[in-house]
Amino acid sequence: MTSITITRPDDWHLHLRDGKQLRSVLPHTARQFARAIIMPNLKPPIVTTEMALAYRAQILAALPETLYGSFNPLMTLYLTENTSPSEIIRAKESKAIQGIKLYPAGATTNSDAGVTDITKCYTTLETMEQNNLPLLVHGEVTDTNIDIFDREKVFIDRILAPLTQRFPNLRIVFEHITTRDAVMFVKETSKSIAATITAHHLLLNRNAIFQGGIRPHYYCLPILKREIHRQALLNAATSGNPKFFLGTDSAPHAQTNKENACGCAGIFTAHAAIELYATAFEQAGALDKLEAFASFYGADFYQLPRNSSHITLKKEHWIVPEKFGFANEKLIPLYAGENLTWKMT
Ligand code: DOR
Ligand code: ZN
Repeated sequence: MTSITITRPDDWHLHLRDGKQLRSVLPHTARQFARAIIMPNLKPPIVTTEMALAYRAQILAALPETLYGSFNPLMTLYLTENTSPSEIIRAKESKAIQGIKLYPAGATTNSDAGVTDITKCYTTLETMEQNNLPLLVHGEVTDTNIDIFDREKVFIDRILAPLTQRFPNLRIVFEHITTRDAVMFVKETSKSIAATITAHHLLLNRNAIFQGGIRPHYYCLPILKREIHRQALLNAATSGNPKFFLGTDSAPHAQTNKENACGCAGIFTAHAAIELYATAFEQAGALDKLEAFASFYGADFYQLPRNSSHITLKKEHWIVPEKFGFANEKLIPLYAGENLTWKMT
């Protein structure tokens, strides 16, 4: 195959940051995707509808003129133990907010204000269930006694499984799943739960972090896992099961904060997101399954209309730039300086 045309995709999990950083990264996403679910883990976190609406206005104002009107940021609120049921109603009524994000406190970048005890959120979760507002989950326990490679599985057992029992009609997106355990859980649990999968978790296993030395640009959370898990993710993504759909988790950090004695978690993939997914799907011999994964199933789960415009990818060799500008710093993209074989026209 030398060319594929698919319905314009959406990114159901994205970090855009704010200010000058936002202006640096937004065009990469807006060029490819019609919509994206925007993560609320800013400093300070987006905890109210008012903040989310102001952030949305900031994103729209940061769009280059050529992309104005063609990209729709879908907003989220950051769940805290103080998020009130009335805030949930305001969020729902705004129509701009599509989900409430659960970060276990301390799980990842800017998650300190997250949730320590999920039972403190039960009334709020009940309001979300009643108002059909999805819960988006960073699914890792933060217990330092639990091995970093096991934190997703333990989260399923301790938090997620009980949550799905208690709130059977709460729609849940288990975000950026990384394990076979998560794939099995999502498949076997009710239709209220779905999952996003990143391109980097489809393309890489944990060896990438240690190839010939320590490689900070392959460090993200949840951390890359063993090959058996990557295979399970690839199978799920290419299976045609509508519970699995695209979410890049593109997470830009300045080069100085990645190449650091305590480097930040996050992989930047927005520069070539759909091309990276095409690469993974082609490797699995399943390019015919890309469109539904990238452009249909996410919209269906979020109960939003599918896009009507299209994009075309051509079989073409190109070299990923070594770095991009990122406010006053530099940003190292996934596969910097390496060859890709699909290019969006
Ligand atoms: O690697 C990650 N980076 N994982 C997350 O959950 C957060 C993200 C970020 O915001 O940088
Ligand atoms: Zn994320």
